[in-house]
Amino acid sequence: MSREAAITFEHVTFSYRGMGHGKPNLSDLHFTIQKGETLGIIGEIGSGKTTVLNLLMRLYDADQGRVLVDGRDVREYPRAELKEKFGVVFQNDTLFEGTIAENVSLGRELTGEQLQEALFYARASEFVERREEKESESLNIKGANLSGGQKQRLLIARALAARPDILILDDSSSALDYRTDAELRRGIREFLPDTTLVIVAQRVSSVRSADHILVLEDGRAIGYGTHQELLKNCPVYREISQSQMGETGEDEQAVGKEKAGEDERSVGEEEAEANEWAGEKEKNGANERASEKEEAGEDERIVGKEETGEDREVSGNA
Ligand SMILES: Nc1ncnc2c1ncn2[C@@H]1O[C@H](COP(=O)(O)OP(=O)(O)OP(=O)(O)O)[C@@H](O)[C@H]1O
Ligand SMILES: [Mg+2]
Repeated sequence: MSREAAITFEHVTFSYRGMGHGKPNLSDLHFTIQKGETLGIIGEIGSGKTTVLNLLMRLYDADQGRVLVDGRDVREYPRAELKEKFGVVFQNDTLFEGTIAENVSLGRELTGEQLQEALFYARASEFVERREEKESESLNIKGANLSGGQKQRLLIARALAARPDILILDDSSSALDYRTDAELRRGIREFLPDTTLVIVAQRVSSVRSADHILVLEDGRAIGYGTHQELLKNCPVYREISQSQMGETGEDEQAVGKEKAGEDERSVGEEEAEANEWAGEKEKNGANERASEKEEAGEDERIVGKEETGEDREVSGNA
């Protein structure tokens, strides 16, 4: 593939309150993502992850530096043209009262095939098929008759259906178990091999296979590199990784296996699954262990803290 910059941040500094009013929300952010690459963004609550997306889509303008999309300053694009480049699932996106099909099409003219395709690659077909009226089923207000994971998959289907140049998922996998999350990422890649992906996540497992991972703290990049590079060079990333995956050794083992596309420990299990995704053997052993850990307390601790307004210890600073 030819190397062509899809996203560039050139020494970007930004403050919601304007320059000179306290600490900026992003400071001197500088990186480039090529077309078709995946960028993972990870960091504590309030570290600036969503703010990066806001500047990328030009919901706000940088105070200093430039943001470029396909080599062109975002400020030079007609609004509609820039908007068209993105498929987005925002953190607080919701479904509306209407059918599943209406929720995915969102006013666009999708053919039945396009709709099915988007549902399939968002890993939503399975549960939609099980519903009595399938995609014609009506959702309650805000999709209250769906689970959190089902809602997220429909929102992702909505974003996929546009086949965007740049697909942005802001914390869109938090309600998915590790395996579904991994399958979903694989599905997205299969459906949109040339799309540039930006994945904001709380979980290392969601970004570990990204081409570049940006680690944010207080609006500053405290790490930038691949999972392996960051494990070596970024203490905060290593700590996040260790707290979520157990020992680093286990983590590295799982990555090796993910890269090799094979996990001997889970072959039998995968075969038992015998679905169209069985080809994927992405670190199931590690996933399930991590998933259990998460269910056992990690997540609840986070939620508990969040609800009390206390900051979540994503980095587990030591
Ligand atoms: N619209 C806004 N106006 C003013 N300040 C904002 C606004 N949005 C975010 N901020 C502030 O900017 C900082 C970064 O917020 P941001 O939403 O980018 O964090 P985040 O990393 O996405 O956090 P989370 O993990 O909770 O989604 C925070 O201190 C936040 O309070
Ligand atoms: Mg956010």
